[in-house]
Order: sequence, then structure tokens, then C-alpha cells
Amino acid sequence: MTLQLPADSRILNTDFVFGVATSSFQIEGGLDSRLPCIWDTFCTQPGAIRDGSHGAVACDHIRLWREDVELIQSLGVDAYRLSLSWPRVMQQNGELNPTGVAFYRDLLGTLKAQGIRTFVTLYHWDLPQYLEDEGGWRNRATAYAFADYADKISKALADLVDAWATLNEPFCSSYLGYEIGVHAPGLKNKGWGRQSAHHLLLAHGLAMPKLRQNAPQAQHGIVLNFTPCYAETDALADVAAADYADQYFNQWYIKPLFDKAYPACFSQLSAEEQPQIQPGDFDIIAAPLDYLGINFYTRHVYRADAQQGFVVVDQVGVAKTDIGWEIYPQAFTDLLLDLHRRYPLPPLYIMENGAAGADELVDGKVQDDMRLGYYQQHLLALDNAMRQGVDVRGYFAWSLMDNFEWAEGYLKRFGIVYVDYATQQRVIKQSGLAFRDLSLSRKG
Ligand code: FCB
Repeated sequence: MTLQLPADSRILNTDFVFGVATSSFQIEGGLDSRLPCIWDTFCTQPGAIRDGSHGAVACDHIRLWREDVELIQSLGVDAYRLSLSWPRVMQQNGELNPTGVAFYRDLLGTLKAQGIRTFVTLYHWDLPQYLEDEGGWRNRATAYAFADYADKISKALADLVDAWATLNEPFCSSYLGYEIGVHAPGLKNKGWGRQSAHHLLLAHGLAMPKLRQNAPQAQHGIVLNFTPCYAETDALADVAAADYADQYFNQWYIKPLFDKAYPACFSQLSAEEQPQIQPGDFDIIAAPLDYLGINFYTRHVYRADAQQGFVVVDQVGVAKTDIGWEIYPQAFTDLLLDLHRRYPLPPLYIMENGAAGADELVDGKVQDDMRLGYYQQHLLALDNAMRQGVDVRGYFAWSLMDNFEWAEGYLKRFGIVYVDYATQQRVIKQSGLAFRDLSLSRKG
């Protein structure tokens, strides 16, 4: 099976960036060569990770990175999106850690030497534990610590990075981590969730001018995830419920970037739940962006609920991936058109899209038809949005390879490359081969 696009699709233009993505904690391992982060701590909490696993070894990328660069090269992609481990490159005294910096200089330098463009995210959830001990993202000082880290590391790596992203999915860091506690650091308090979200956005805004100053030739932005919200019925209450959820889960993170304000749901929060905002914060947060990164996987359907305001309605009898997320590519098109109508967007990059599958290695092959179908449908959904005027410049598959899927541990496989964790062998899945063929076909 192959991935097919209409011959006139702009996705097939050679200036459209095709890439694969990973993040530091999910693949690196190498726990002994860095400081602990909040995910190391979270993994020790009983019941926090479904298979009781941790990130101490993961894909052992810290040792196998040269092979992994060859793997990326063999996939024929233009670009690689990775994240830096903050506790690997910074010391507690605020100085860079030369060993950590050297690791990324080698990795990024090797990628560049192979002609692979480098998209670097500064924060993909692995906050140094020493900062969590001071309140983590609940503490305004963490935003300033992030800006300092961004400043120092962007100076050290400026010549090797094509595009910088401040944060990956501040929704997950704040809501999942501090509001409902299913991600590190595992705290459950609505006010803390909202305050963390504000400090994350502030951290982004404080870092942007430093990145621009240190790496004027690179592009600078942020990566947000969206789970579009649909009403179960046309009843006014359900439509209002879906709209509220959309404000709370999606617009909260993008509206301040363009409109210097939180959505209307802000005023429905109690005084303790409303984040503390200092004068001038929104001016910092709304720093101009060169691009916006979008992560998309699925949608949610909502129903009004007398007690809770809104509830997610499980969709029965529909196609789902192995992590239980509905496959609904129309939401991808709808999302891009909706954002395009609402905000004065810079060029977009799809920084993550992909599917978890119950993959098995059989006779040296992984026949992941569901994932291949998912990519086919979502590339068409993206093409559809681009035909209607949305300016998208690139697309990254999540993920290059199977890895530590946060609270799911190693149970969920998102890679287009299979990882046998017992041997660390990598095997390109059928979806990976199709992705390679599509990518290479553009190059004529
Ligand atoms: C996103 C994360 C990424 C991965 C995918 C499946 O929310 O950014 O690290 O876990 O989901």
C-alpha cells in the first residue's frame, strides 16, 4: 500500500517540509548523564504509568543516536523535529552543562551534515525536578528560568537549528499535569492548572525575543495541540457545552497569542481558579511568531451536563486507534479552517499527527494498515484545508519510532518505525516505507 495525493497537491511541492518527530524524555534514556526531571519522579508513583515503566532507558537514543540519524536519512525526509532535555543541558546553578550541550551539538551537526533540517523544541514536558521543588509551573519564577535556559542554549546551538519552538502543548503540561494529575507532576487543582497555563505562556513570550536575538536566521514559534469540540446534538445546551469546552481546552492557549486575552470562559472561573496575571503579561505573551506548530490526533463530542456543565460522549461503533482515540479526519480540516478564520495566523507547520497501533513484528515486517490508512486520510484532510487557503508549510509524523508514551508507558506504539525494546532493534513499518516513498516521490 502507498500514500496517494492528487497530482496538483501543494503537499507534493518540494518546498513543503516532510518530517518525523520525537521528544527527549520519550526516546533518550541516559538518566545517569542528566539531572532528574518531573517525569522521573512521576514514574516512581505507584499506578502513575500503566505498565509501571519509566524513561531510564526508553529507546536508548543517547547511545544509538548515530544509527537513528541514519534511520531518519533512510526515510527520505527533509526534517527532524526533536526536543532538548532541559535537565541535560542546564545545571542547577544556572550554567550550561557542557556534556549535554556536546551531545546535542553532535546530534544536530550530524543531521545538518546529512542535509536534514532541524526543528528543535525547548520544552516537551521534562521540567527539571529542582524547579518543581520550587513550585514548578505554579511558580512565576519558572517562566524566567525557562527564558534563561532558552537564552543560553539557543546561543550554544544557534548555528545548528533551522526552527525553534518554545513549548510543546502547554495544554498537556498545565491541564494534564497540574489540573487533573494524569501527567507529571501529578497534581490536581483547577487553579494550579490555570496558573500553570499562564506561566507557560509567559515563559514562551519571555523566550521569544531571546531566540530571535540569538538566532536571527532561524524561525521561531510554539507548538499547540487541538482536540476540536463537537456538540452531540443541535440542542442549544449541547452547542454551548461544546463551545465552552473548546474555549477551556483549545482557545485558552492560542487566543492570548493573537488577541492578548483569555477566552470568555475565564470570567466563569471562581476567584481562586483565575490565574494571577500581571500588567504587561499579555504584551509579552503575544510576541510575534514566525510560524505556529499544530498537533492534531482526534476530536471530542460533548453533551451538556447538569452537574459538570459538559461531558465527553464516547463514540460507539466508530473507527478508533489503539489508544481509543476516534479516527475523524474531517476534524483536521475543520480545525485548520476554523483557526484560519479566527486568527491572523503566521504560516503553519503540522508538528504531530499519527496513530497508535497494536503492532506486531512478524517475519521481520510490521503490517500496520490502520496507521497507513490514518496517514492517508489525514494527508488528504490537510490537502483539503490547504486548497481552501490555509497556509501550511510542513507535516511531521508522530513518531519516528515507538517510544515511551507517557502515562501509557510502552504499551502504545506510535512509531512509523517499530522498536523491539528487548534488543533495541528498529524495523521500518509498512507505514514508514509508504511515508518514505511519498517523501522521495516529491523529489522526483
Ligand atoms: C502528544 C505529545 C507526544 C505524544 C503524542 C501521542 O500529545 O506531544 O509526545 O505523546 O501526543
